[in-house]
Amino acid sequence: MSSRRIPVALTIAGSDSGGGAGIQADLKTFAAMGVHGTSAITSLTAQNTREVRSVHDLPPEFVALQIEVVADDLGVDAAKTGMLSSAPIISAVARTVKRYGFPLVVDPVMIAKSGARLLREDAVEILKRELIPLAKIVTPNRMEAEALLGVKIDSVERAREAAQMLVDVYGCEAAIVKGGHIEGEHAVDILYYRGSFYEFKSLRVQTKNTHGTGCGFSAAIAAGIAKGKNLVDAVSSAKDFITTAIEYGLDVGSGHGPINPAAYIYIPAERYRVLENVERAVELLLKNDRVVAKVVPEVGMNIGMSIDPLYARTPLDVAAIPGRITRYRDGIMVKSKPEFGVSKHIANAILTMIRVYPEYRAAANMAYSEKLVEIAESIGLTTAYFDRREEPESIKLVEGATIKWGIEHTLKRTGKPVDIIYDFGDVGKEPVMRVFGGDAVDVARKIIAIANKQ
Ligand SMILES: Nc1ncnc2c1ncn2[C@@H]1O[C@H](COP(=O)(O)OP(=O)(O)OP(=O)(O)O)[C@@H](O)[C@H]1O
Ligand SMILES: [Mg+2]
Repeated sequence: MSSRRIPVALTIAGSDSGGGAGIQADLKTFAAMGVHGTSAITSLTAQNTREVRSVHDLPPEFVALQIEVVADDLGVDAAKTGMLSSAPIISAVARTVKRYGFPLVVDPVMIAKSGARLLREDAVEILKRELIPLAKIVTPNRMEAEALLGVKIDSVERAREAAQMLVDVYGCEAAIVKGGHIEGEHAVDILYYRGSFYEFKSLRVQTKNTHGTGCGFSAAIAAGIAKGKNLVDAVSSAKDFITTAIEYGLDVGSGHGPINPAAYIYIPAERYRVLENVERAVELLLKNDRVVAKVVPEVGMNIGMSIDPLYARTPLDVAAIPGRITRYRDGIMVKSKPEFGVSKHIANAILTMIRVYPEYRAAANMAYSEKLVEIAESIGLTTAYFDRREEPESIKLVEGATIKWGIEHTLKRTGKPVDIIYDFGDVGKEPVMRVFGGDAVDVARKIIAIANKQ
């Protein structure tokens, strides 16, 4: 029983009604990192992506009580603090945390992304004296490290010095100075722990949707510690996690949109579902291989599907069959299992389609003939075509741009999604029908339905 217990992490922080930072970001992070999340709310904020309109602190004893009930019953493997708001809340938290002795990540939150103060000025002294010394790790951003140390930090070199100073001055076990607000092509965080420095580096994502970066990062470190990782590994996976959560930040609200903690598990889950669906589609085609063989084009057939269009950006997000599906004797041959990033033509077609109609996530190419178009229409499928000869010269010159142009051009004309978009080919280009569908299985069914009537 005990060896299979899920680790329990606790966040002691403020509530963000906008769901971007605070308790809300922390609980999403805990879930994404595979630990059970619990919470002790210090303060309620009426907040959105633009502003903190109002703050309502909870009584310090009530904050302590939330920590106690959780620790007494579920047990806490690691905790983090975020917004603590006032000196009395900090004291109550410090007292309670000390009694239980669980590992603590202190995120010394002072100012929100929108600029609002989240910690009273007179509370900074109490934070330094009572809470930071209890921390396994303290995780200030640039401005917070400057406020805690009274020094200026404008480079990675200064951040190194500051990280060591935090440990030397306040007696916490480790300190990481985050680089979100230190200029540079990379976002570099510097950890100082047991006499050594560690650098965690990622490309800086160009985005305004960074609401909750610090919260998610410190919660992910706490989750790693709760799982029993050593501190350096916990920080390393937290950095991976936060980079993905920022990369797929959510475009909601008109200010700083929330980070997207779920992306960390949602994208791999989507990739698995897509591979499975394409495999099932291929099985269906193989089951009907005699009829399907008759509609495989000379260049071979491919069938592909993208991950959730909210997340699909490049051909790397579209799975298809490496080496395509080819005719073999009376049937078809599929040499490999589906993989991501192996098709250009079909991936481009799908990526172009989902930008307009996100519900059409899959496509395959099949042979074109007038008769096949007639059959498709006779069984209720909609069709439309484009003429490669109308393609502007400037687009012809760009490798791979024809498909995008052709599909966009066609959809503009039809004003609605269609099951099949075909073209008549060109010199050295075989005419092709592209069959679209909700998923790869749906596409395979359409192809089989057409092929059966041949
Ligand atoms: N634009 C970005 N691209 C990539 N990583 C980033 C970006 N901005 C911040 N980070 C990373 O996010 C983590 C949090 O750092 P940051 O300095 O933003 O914290 P913070 O200022 O406390 O955030 P918050 O304002 O949400 O409290 C760090 O690992 C940092 O390197
Ligand atoms: Mg912060």
